[in-house]
Amino acid sequence: MTMQDAGARAQIVEVGPRDGYQGIGPIIPTAAKIGLLKRLAAAGLTRIEIGSFVSETALPQLRDTAEVLAACRSIPAIVPQVLVPNEKYARRAIAAGSEFLAFVLSVSEAHNRSNVRRHPLESVGEYCRLLDMLPPGVDVRLNVATAFDCPFTGRVAEGDALALLDELVPLHPDAEICLCDTTGKAVPDQVERLFAAAMARFPQADRWAMHAHDTYGLGLANVHAAWRAGVRVFDASFAGLGGCPFAPGATGNVATEDVVWMFHRMGIETGIELDALVPVACDGAQLPGGLSGGRVRAAMTGALPTSASPVD
Ligand code: COA
Ligand code: ZN
Repeated sequence: MTMQDAGARAQIVEVGPRDGYQGIGPIIPTAAKIGLLKRLAAAGLTRIEIGSFVSETALPQLRDTAEVLAACRSIPAIVPQVLVPNEKYARRAIAAGSEFLAFVLSVSEAHNRSNVRRHPLESVGEYCRLLDMLPPGVDVRLNVATAFDCPFTGRVAEGDALALLDELVPLHPDAEICLCDTTGKAVPDQVERLFAAAMARFPQADRWAMHAHDTYGLGLANVHAAWRAGVRVFDASFAGLGGCPFAPGATGNVATEDVVWMFHRMGIETGIELDALVPVACDGAQLPGGLSGGRVRAAMTGALPTSASPVD
């Protein structure tokens, strides 16, 4: 532990119920989603992305988001956030009672078109209209997808990510800004550099977040790189669930239990009870059709593979 880290705190945003579930084919019953949310909240995960308001044709798994959101009212610990891709769906989210919107757009034109059917600048227009109709008290986060790499066009230049932020940040400096490694191909030096450059360029934005995927096993290294740059908010998915239908080849988010374990070993508080989280993550890994990841579940439950033959 360094002097800088002592007494520090990291905030985890549990995104499994949105990013993790959206890649799962078999529909998870709404009651099962609500049961898992209750257990995640009991483990201390209070910020949870509980779903998204998007085309039900595009993402049938999340079509019950309004119902799940309504159920969150009886789980007072949860601060639910929902993902929205444009003004139309933001209106639906607000009508359903959402008080925290995560607006998504991509740096890469190819990914933005495939994901939300817009040029990135058209999505900036959607964001402007969303802000214009935002009721008082509703919080906003910006999910800047493909900030490091695009599934269709490869590595994203730092200047392209900063140029899109030039359009976005001044519109609502209070928004939390999350740079997303949609494919999991970012590498730690790239993560630290982009966050350092963005934070220096936009001093008016005081809340930055990192959204890491673990496709190439660098999820935790990238979380740590962002931490070194000064980021204090991290997306993660219990059981490492994930695999986005709009990012071919990407696996799940960095596992929540792995991120919590790392931070706790660094002496950094998260407010999460790892012993309570691991059993929920074990059950999450069993969801039919789910693709799980991470290492800490196996390490903490004694399920690591052992040598078949005795060591002599
Ligand atoms: N896949 C399949 N069909 C789609 C589609 C997609 N990605 N996007 C739109 N459609 C079809 C649907 O039939 C839709 O109507 P329906 O939902 O009522 O059946 C129709 O096109 C029109 O869509 P509409 O909702 O009017 O707006 P749009 O054409 O501007 O669609 C989005 C844009 C953003 C709403 C839509 O592309 C979407 O929901 N994408 C999913 C984004 C997402 O969640 N990505 C993962 C998280 S980053
Ligand atoms: Zn993601």
